Amino acid sequence: MSNNIILVGFMGVGKGTVARALSGKTGRYAVDTDDLIESLTNKKIKKIFKKKGEEYFRQLEQRTANWLECCVKDTIVSTGGGFYKVKNLKKIGTVIYLKADFDWIYERITKSPNAKSKIKKRPLFKSYKDAKTLYNERSQAYEEVADITVNVQNRDLDDILNEIIEKTNIS
Ligand code: S3P
Repeated sequence: MSNNIILVGFMGVGKGTVARALSGKTGRYAVDTDDLIESLTNKKIKKIFKKKGEEYFRQLEQRTANWLECCVKDTIVSTGGGFYKVKNLKKIGTVIYLKADFDWIYERITKSPNAKSKIKKRPLFKSYKDAKTLYNERSQAYEEVADITVNVQNRDLDDILNEIIEKTNIS
């Protein structure tokens, strides 16, 4: 058993923040699939989308998923918003969907101090309308793929961590 925790959910919901805090609290390492792809290719996600297209990026996500399945254990994994589509997601670890309403996520991104760079680095977060359409297309699938759904909207980080720790029995 890999004993990994895989955080999935929409862009900007706070997967990286939760992963790092969970790492701090449990003493496990945290890795992020976008970071892994950027280091593997030595290119920014934005550049990969621009030069090679989304399909190529999805192949890199699958390659990353294969590596996680084969070689990583006892780790917190935060993922890109589309990573839930990889074929072997359930084999990598316990899948946790971080859930929030679209408008809350949109505000979290656009009202953050570094909103511009947060939007700029996300090629699929083009406009309110486009992002909302994508959110609506995906929200059901996130629920279906998840072992556990955790509502993160308007909640203290510590509360969220405690719920994840309690429901997964990690320590
Ligand atoms: C994507 C989400 C991004 C990144 C890429 C594609 C998506 O990650 O993987 O831009 O398809 O939702 P975040 O969820 O960390 O923004």
